[in-house]
Amino acid sequence: MAELLTEICGTKLRNPTILAAGILGVTSATLERAANSGAGAVTTKSIGPIRREGHPNPVVVETPCGLLNAVGLSCPSPEESIEELKKTIKELDIPVIASFYAHSELEFGNLAERISGVKPHLLEANISCPNVENDFGMAIGTDAEASSRITAEIKSMTDIPLIVKLTPNVTDIREIARAVEDAGADAIAVINTYGPGMAINAETGRPVLSNMFGGLSGPAIKPIALRCVYELYDEVGIPLIGIGGIQTGKDMAEMLMAGASACGIGTAIMNRGVEVFSEICRELEEFMDEHGYSRVRDIVGLAHR
Ligand SMILES: Cc1cc2nc3c(=O)[nH]c(=O)nc-3n(C[C@H](O)[C@H](O)[C@H](O)COP(=O)(O)O)c2cc1C
Repeated sequence: MAELLTEICGTKLRNPTILAAGILGVTSATLERAANSGAGAVTTKSIGPIRREGHPNPVVVETPCGLLNAVGLSCPSPEESIEELKKTIKELDIPVIASFYAHSELEFGNLAERISGVKPHLLEANISCPNVENDFGMAIGTDAEASSRITAEIKSMTDIPLIVKLTPNVTDIREIARAVEDAGADAIAVINTYGPGMAINAETGRPVLSNMFGGLSGPAIKPIALRCVYELYDEVGIPLIGIGGIQTGKDMAEMLMAGASACGIGTAIMNRGVEVFSEICRELEEFMDEHGYSRVRDIVGLAHR
């Protein structure tokens, strides 16, 4: 049987599946469901600096090849989120990744310091949300200078390894990745949702999402995520977490071959249920056995030969 163990910044994962940020990650009970169904690690929904309502419903709509979402980074107060995170870390026996966002350099640094107090295994800075106002989210992640400053500020406030999550909505993702690596990022997660895009209801003649536009996830974005991981594997020396459209063990094998050391799974949970983690692991194991690969590191970056 193939061995699925992998590692991100010294943190060992029993397998390369990670619950992606924002999907099931609000309470410790929902994160526990992903852990119990076999995830190698879980990521919280992004924790913000203040309580935020997010956009009114509808915030998610299904399209033929993925989801459009404009949740709008809704979150409880940081006190409540950090308390929930503390509970999650205590209850789970797998690594917990704390995702967070803020509006400015200082706020990113302060929030990272507060979250670090409860000792998540890894931090993930979300500088890439496409469906929020311009002073945070993707506005940061499309600017190499701002991405670099924020990464450096977070690193100065915490010793916990930092993953920076990038947006694919840029002309050259390698430039942003180099900037965050040079500023001290320990790993990079690619990609957040693509777009924004929109859906229109032909019957009512109106946009479906209350926010009109939303980020695209699921199978439609897998080729873009693969390309981003492939490009960055040659560009940076830090580990990559590949996210975007992974639905099956074979999809995951492709993402590992592009250069990811582990993979985030989001929309597939809507399509296959929370058991998707153990199912994808079984499919990956079968794929590796059939092809004579015995360890995850045998296939990481294989497509670069
Ligand atoms: C409903 C929903 C909510 C999300 N919320 C967050 C979030 O809070 N923070 C974040 O970094 N990414 C968030 N994402 C993006 C996912 O973590 C992931 O990067 C994206 O969906 C692509 O992966 P997938 O195709 O496997 O879903 C969200 C995605 C969806 C569909």
